[in-house]
Amino acid sequence: MRYRTATEDDAPRLLKLYKAVSRVPDGIARLEHEVTEEYVENFLYNSLSSGLIIVAENPDKPEELVADVHGYKMGLEVFKHVISDVTLCVHPNFQGRKIGRTILMVYLEEIATNRPDIGKVELIAREGNLKAIQLYQSVGFLIEGRLEMRIRNVDGTYEADIPMGWQNPNFEFDEA
Ligand SMILES: CC(C)(COP(=O)(O)OP(=O)(O)OC[C@H]1O[C@@H](n2cnc3c(N)ncnc32)[C@H](O)[C@@H]1OP(=O)(O)O)[C@@H](O)C(=O)NCCC(=O)NCCS
Repeated sequence: MRYRTATEDDAPRLLKLYKAVSRVPDGIARLEHEVTEEYVENFLYNSLSSGLIIVAENPDKPEELVADVHGYKMGLEVFKHVISDVTLCVHPNFQGRKIGRTILMVYLEEIATNRPDIGKVELIAREGNLKAIQLYQSVGFLIEGRLEMRIRNVDGTYEADIPMGWQNPNFEFDEA
């Protein structure tokens, strides 16, 4: 499996990946019709310009992506050390094979090694997504609260969203 930084050319591949992931309920907080070209181009552009985006290629078909993790800065001075709203997904046909764990570790390792400007990585996972929450905890994310009734599921039930954070041990505070 090859893990690499995404490029602008990856937009159509990311669209295909996110469409496939969104078809499975209770994962990412986005329904299939909400996964649009605009959504993908927006997160790709923002991640490349002020954040970080790593993708994994299908070893049998390198033109296909099987996983993505991305996030970016919010554009405000007080938050300039924070990568927020980080999203991680693995293609449903490739889940449960350690790809999610590996790509997330590659992501955090890249930040710890080469991104002293990033002090904190934030994400939010729905309470029922235990698989994701356990994975985040196992690589060092801490649960930082509980946002009650934040997620409305397709069946009309509500659940809490769980904000989580990871701190870069090699963060260098920038006075400028
Ligand atoms: C959540 C997700 C990213 C995990 O990726 P994955 O490649 O399937 O997971 P991995 O095989 O790397 O497993 C990593 C950890 O996840 C957890 N996990 C994986 N499968 C699990 C299962 N069936 N039940 C419980 N925990 C599970 C375990 O903690 C596992 O740790 P281990 O390595 O010690 O076994 C992936 O399932 C996915 O994309 N889901 C849909 C989108 C989504 O929910 N994204 C997160 C939004 S917050």
